[in-house]
Amino acid sequence: MGKAERGALGQSTELPALGSGLGYRRVHRGELFLDRRGIDFLEIVADHFMSADPAVQSELALLQAHFPLIPHGLDLSLGSAEGLDPAYLDRLARVVEAIDPPWWSEHIAYTRADGVAIGHLAALPLTREALDFLCANIHAAQRRIPAPLILENITTPFRLPGDELTEPQFLTELTERTGCGLLLDVTNLLVNAANLSFDPSEYLDQLPLERVVQTHYVGWARRGDTWVDDHGSETPEPVWELLAEVAARCPLRGMVLERDRNIPALAELRPELERAREIGRKAGRWD
Ligand SMILES: [Fe+2]
Repeated sequence: MGKAERGALGQSTELPALGSGLGYRRVHRGELFLDRRGIDFLEIVADHFMSADPAVQSELALLQAHFPLIPHGLDLSLGSAEGLDPAYLDRLARVVEAIDPPWWSEHIAYTRADGVAIGHLAALPLTREALDFLCANIHAAQRRIPAPLILENITTPFRLPGDELTEPQFLTELTERTGCGLLLDVTNLLVNAANLSFDPSEYLDQLPLERVVQTHYVGWARRGDTWVDDHGSETPEPVWELLAEVAARCPLRGMVLERDRNIPALAELRPELERAREIGRKAGRWD
């Protein structure tokens, strides 16, 4: 891989079609190895495998021996104006290197401001200045981690005044300037569409769809007047419908069920994994 190509996507169709994947949660470990059928790959939270603890490292080796793994980072804070934390980037790079995945992912967000942890993924203002910081940080991450990076859309309950770009314009310029792909979280897209009153199909019309490599999907919740991505319930019909539209329109290489709360037995999630696989198969994304 030449230097200019480090961390960039190239043609997403050159990436392997992984199929229907599951966000790995430790509570499923026993069940996972009793019956691996129907789980084409695992997305692992990179932050959970940064420890040198032998138990953590042997868990990673075990997962790697049985499944294709995609690392998903939580706390790189790509939108931070002060730049990346070099020690954290180093720990993340070691996890990604150990896995040697076809791609890895992080969020279009910041989790630290002025060195202070915020404790959650915060949305960036859609301004040229924020885009410049984000691109500079992504270029720094790409210099350290050569595997292709795909970037995930997050939720926000509101937009601050002063935005200079729409989110699709922001994402289009971001992918053009960094060569990154997109991880389209369809649940997040629908949650934002409901809270910010826009049409998700029109949003898709304005995205660089050829850059969408992977999706996330799961259920949502309603708190008062606001929809939230609580990752705590079964995938609802509107998410399946949008997932089918995305599979038809984008060169998807994988879909990941991202369940983090009210986690049921793996047996209960298998029908969702099967339905996602079938959606991708019907769209011709994999066999
Ligand atoms: Fe997600």
